[in-house]
Amino acid sequence: MLSQITEETLRACPGPAVSPQALNVQLRTAREHVLELIRRHLTEFGEQFPAETCVQGKYPLTDNVEWTTSFWTGQLWLAWEMSGDDVFRQMAEKHVRSFGLRIAGRHDTNTHDLGFLYTLSCVPAWRLTSNREARGFSLLAADALLERFHAKAHIIQAWGDLTDPEQAGRMIIDCNMNLPLLYWATEQTGDPRYAQAAKAHVMQAAKYLIRPDASTFHTYYMDVVTGEARYGNTQQGYADDSCWSRGQAWGIYGFLLSYLYTGDKNMVALSKRLANYFLNRLPEDAVCHWDLALVGSDALRDSSSAAIAVCGLLELVKQLPLTDPDRETYQHWAVKIFVSLTENYLTGLSEPGNGLLKHSVYHLTSDKGVDECSSWGDYFYVEALMRLSQSWKPYW
Ligand code: GLY
Repeated sequence: MLSQITEETLRACPGPAVSPQALNVQLRTAREHVLELIRRHLTEFGEQFPAETCVQGKYPLTDNVEWTTSFWTGQLWLAWEMSGDDVFRQMAEKHVRSFGLRIAGRHDTNTHDLGFLYTLSCVPAWRLTSNREARGFSLLAADALLERFHAKAHIIQAWGDLTDPEQAGRMIIDCNMNLPLLYWATEQTGDPRYAQAAKAHVMQAAKYLIRPDASTFHTYYMDVVTGEARYGNTQQGYADDSCWSRGQAWGIYGFLLSYLYTGDKNMVALSKRLANYFLNRLPEDAVCHWDLALVGSDALRDSSSAAIAVCGLLELVKQLPLTDPDRETYQHWAVKIFVSLTENYLTGLSEPGNGLLKHSVYHLTSDKGVDECSSWGDYFYVEALMRLSQSWKPYW
């Protein structure tokens, strides 16, 4: 698997490294700024959820539907951990009840994104506050996610009914982020089936979604009857053979998350290779275009991919041995991207709108969430801020 992938040499991070003192000052200011924004959003959203992305600068409010509602709940948990202010915890706990109803009634749960949904809402409620109901809801979600595993193809199907001819056997790189829910369920219950499915899936993802040059397909079809590999294509990227930036960012972080649960060092090596490909294709302000193939053009940026990559890189730095020759460069890149996001992409306190991280791209070709805030971009910016400013145990 690894030997088939060419490793690009990681380029140096341009410019002087940010001094620890300057970074600390910026982090302190950013924490106050972000907590103020989240406080305002909480008042505005009430018990509803922001939609996937802003529309003309403002999130429409929704019930607990779609794949993204937990990114708001996750921000509330992070805000509570950062500030200790119970107003954040109380709202997050209300969300937990909503997630309980959602999984018990199987409302809009026909998706692999159950991982995102429950890992950032109910799992932290259990980890941080010992909420047993939340643990139970998360286990129900893990059961529903496990149902999406195709035994012959060894993958978790991303979208739609398992028999839908358009979607059957389709895996996507984003799913790596959904696997922690399965590993966690095995840890909690002792039932090995969840982790077995996650491990089988991540091996297939490594084999088929990563190309020999360490770029990634967004999606890949497997034959669910024979288990044979079929072909890769894109859903949200520029072209089938380009490299969608968010997919690459999900890969950098997601393969590493499997390492945390399995100890398989190949996952760290894959994360590094994907990171090198990503970092070698950044424009001057270090915030990627929405597809890495578009570097050098004036294509829109996707700040959400940048925020996800920062979190992945910071975790990579944590996991690599001190002797790894690239470790320091990853740290420099993570800080450089984060500083750029903070200085140029964060919504100002007197700006209109109710999002946090501007200039994200959800799905350009279907004109959804283009150059808007996205709920996941907001979440991963806050996670990156948390990771840089205090010691933190990930919800993943
Ligand atoms: N997981 C869907 C997306 O990243 O747009």
